[in-house]
Amino acid sequence: MQGRRLATTDEIIAIVSPDSEGPLETLTDWTAKHDIGLSSVDVGDDVGKVYNENRATLGVTLGGDGTFLEGVKTFAPRNIPQLGVNTGTLAFLARVEPEDLEDALEEVLCGRAAVDSRQQVHVTAPGVDATGINDVMIQQVPPENPIDRKVARLDVYVDNEYIGEFEGTGLAVSTPTGSTGISLSANGPVHYPVNNHTLQIVPLHTHNLGVRPIVVSPETELRIITRGQASLLVDGGRAHTILSEDDEMTITGAAKRAHVVRTSYDDHFFTAITKKLGWNLREAAVPPEKKLETTSSPKPTAADSETDTVKHALTVATEAARAAGEPLRELHGQVESVDVKSNKSDIVTEADHQADRIITTAVGNEFPDHAIFSEESTRQTGEDADYLWVIDPLDGTGNFAHGNPNYSISVALIEDDRPVMGVVYVPETDELFTAIAGEGAWRDGDPIRTTDRERLDESMLISGYDPDGIFLSHFYQESRGVRRLGSAALNLCYLASGSADAIWEHDTHPWDIAAGLIIARAAGATITDESGAPFEFTLETDERRALLGSNGSLHPALLEHLEDGLTTPAK
Ligand code: IPD
Ligand code: CA
Ligand code: CA
Repeated sequence: MQGRRLATTDEIIAIVSPDSEGPLETLTDWTAKHDIGLSSVDVGDDVGKVYNENRATLGVTLGGDGTFLEGVKTFAPRNIPQLGVNTGTLAFLARVEPEDLEDALEEVLCGRAAVDSRQQVHVTAPGVDATGINDVMIQQVPPENPIDRKVARLDVYVDNEYIGEFEGTGLAVSTPTGSTGISLSANGPVHYPVNNHTLQIVPLHTHNLGVRPIVVSPETELRIITRGQASLLVDGGRAHTILSEDDEMTITGAAKRAHVVRTSYDDHFFTAITKKLGWNLREAAVPPEKKLETTSSPKPTAADSETDTVKHALTVATEAARAAGEPLRELHGQVESVDVKSNKSDIVTEADHQADRIITTAVGNEFPDHAIFSEESTRQTGEDADYLWVIDPLDGTGNFAHGNPNYSISVALIEDDRPVMGVVYVPETDELFTAIAGEGAWRDGDPIRTTDRERLDESMLISGYDPDGIFLSHFYQESRGVRRLGSAALNLCYLASGSADAIWEHDTHPWDIAAGLIIARAAGATITDESGAPFEFTLETDERRALLGSNGSLHPALLEHLEDGLTTPAK
């Protein structure tokens, strides 16, 4: 989950431990001031009755790590991002101090917080089907008579391969989040938990020196068979049972990850360990007044040059487009499964709307003086009319509505009427096309160029909207093929990255092509109108204009055929 998405939060659900009245009051005032809904529930209460999945919800826990773990149990299955406020004492998980609560929330609402995905562990055993964010412990059952020294004997299989018999106090299967707990005390490695999706098997007081901690992927299936009684505990007893001899359990990474919100007000991981576990590896090196960065985007200081503005704009556009891609992917999945006569158009409108809200909020927060034009929302004009953002939050709606993956998000920055920065993001393939005018074009960070093909009969072409079939009828026989895909922004990116040698659009809106135009030109494309004159970008919204793009060398031949087509339309 992208932190930029949190800029559109309109509801907070708080899980509140006893003794957290002060922070709850702060949260109540803050939400009222920002016109954000707030529901608070006590630890252990069901949030089902207050949760509305149509509202963009942030989960907040006010308490210690116990409350945070309750939050994970509640929020993770619903994909709700979670911010932990530490009103307890020794917290590793809830890392915002109550006095920083308002500042941390402001950061979240600006879309500047990060959201880390935390691996969870899932276990099934007789009578247990549970998920935890810390660990699963399988241990000896304490003997009635302390003189009878009991050990746990466990046969362990990894993806059906037998590792051996673990004999000792037992073993812990921990997530990176849980690696600072019991597994650390048993000499397991500490895992930095941020976006680290592994599981570790740590023997506890083993009787066999050959047994070592093992790290596996979350897809790995661990099968453990008890050779005697053993107790099973998930997250320190949030689920537990006593297993009998020959019981079998299966442990693997949970499908749902927890989304943990990280702000610059968090007590950071190694700082927390150093403080709380007394590691003497370093002095407290971070001065208290210096906060660490949490997001890849720079702080909102006024950029001191045009280049900085455009570079910062590229970062914000990239993060905003990726964040907007999340609800599009989710809704695209729903559209595929609904019947044509039902509410497909509602889902599509909702998709346009959600993506629009995320992008315009993120851009508006970072560049309050810039003008913003989005296909789906009214023009917002900041004071600095030199910069104008042109956004199509969902280009290729027709494809989207039919469950076709060929759709994109297009975000461009225009400076003094000149397109200078473009981002096109393709949610279904997770491809990101970017360019700054004059600095080259990129796909997922790798440079892209148009092709150098010179022969039309070896070329692959893409046609956009072409009502008279002019392009198709004149080029189908002349080229290797003409494809009709359905997102003008993406067509331009295919031209830029060489999977098409030329493209044609009979008419375009400015928001369809603003970003793609910069990307294609930065990759070396020639873009003209149907007469061969350079394509001039303008935000005249009622005027739709034809666009011919190519790798340059094919342009004369394309224009010639097109002219034929325009004067003698196909029958
Ligand atoms: C459309 C797409 C399509 C093009 C249409 C556009 P939308 O945009 O770009 O490829 O042929 O002219 O209107 O409506 O899906 O944002
Ligand atoms: Ca469009
Ligand atoms: Ca659109």
